[in-house]
Amino acid sequence: MSQHRKEEFIDIHHVTAYCGTTCVFREFSLAVDEGCSTAILGPNGAGKSTLMKLLSRDIYPVADPESHVRIFGMERWNVWDLRTRLGIVSHDLQHDYLPGARGINVILSGIYASIDIWQNQQYSPDDMQKAEEVMERLGIGSLKNRPFGTMSTGQQRRFLLGRTLIHDPEALLLDEPTTGLDLKAAFQYIETLRMLMRSGKTVILVTHHIHEIPPEIERVVLLKEGRIVSDGNKSDVLTSSTLSSLFDYPLQVVSVNGYYQVLPSV
Ligand SMILES: Nc1ncnc2c1ncn2[C@@H]1O[C@H](COP(=O)(O)OP(=O)(O)OP(=O)(O)O)[C@@H](O)[C@H]1O
Ligand SMILES: [Mg+2]
Repeated sequence: MSQHRKEEFIDIHHVTAYCGTTCVFREFSLAVDEGCSTAILGPNGAGKSTLMKLLSRDIYPVADPESHVRIFGMERWNVWDLRTRLGIVSHDLQHDYLPGARGINVILSGIYASIDIWQNQQYSPDDMQKAEEVMERLGIGSLKNRPFGTMSTGQQRRFLLGRTLIHDPEALLLDEPTTGLDLKAAFQYIETLRMLMRSGKTVILVTHHIHEIPPEIERVVLLKEGRIVSDGNKSDVLTSSTLSSLFDYPLQVVSVNGYYQVLPSV
């Protein structure tokens, strides 16, 4: 009997990449297998959002025959096809949203990866049903007719997550998804992510909130000035000494029930 081998979800090899005029990555490599949900931590400006943009194809690396960015084993992607397999939630998206878009239209807009829906886009009864199901699953069904601009930050975040889930993607890229959420809203959001990971989706979570890294995420990558300074099992990476050195600040890590928290060590 042949043994099942896990597919490579992300394979970034020897990449140099710029954000505007800033060279963020030089000869950067990172690989993540399907099913291996991963948290990415690092100080402001470390390159976390740039890494997400490399994966979402919002930016491209400097052309070099020795380098590649492969997603699900492929280097060349039609961005529309990629969006159906890889869900992306970033702050840029939240700010771009038309405040007048109704909740259900925010969800449906994920089908064409457009901002809001346009007149000429037709949605089938099947699409409408899927949108209703996604809203029910995320507990936002009652807000389906609410303009996006009148929702709270937490409600908007759920709609933006729902927008990516309409395709039932295999993996999700989340760049600081809980920033600005209150404790309950943040932990509820994380509970939703846990459910998605348990249903087989791979999550890449960029966060500054170490206490929100759920037990399902076992790998942690620490990024500083465009370089990986530590990468491995959560319990090995999230130590007082690695985090103090990452942030150049004396920190103490405590762990309770599979969760981690950081305190100042002064
Ligand atoms: N449009 C741009 N033009 C020039 N430099 C940029 C641009 N966008 C980002 N940078 C620079 O690229 C580097 C990496 O930025 P990036 O946004 O990836 O950091 P980050 O790790 O996501 O930080 P944060 O925790 O603050 O979100 C920073 O030095 C930043 O100043
Ligand atoms: Mg960022």
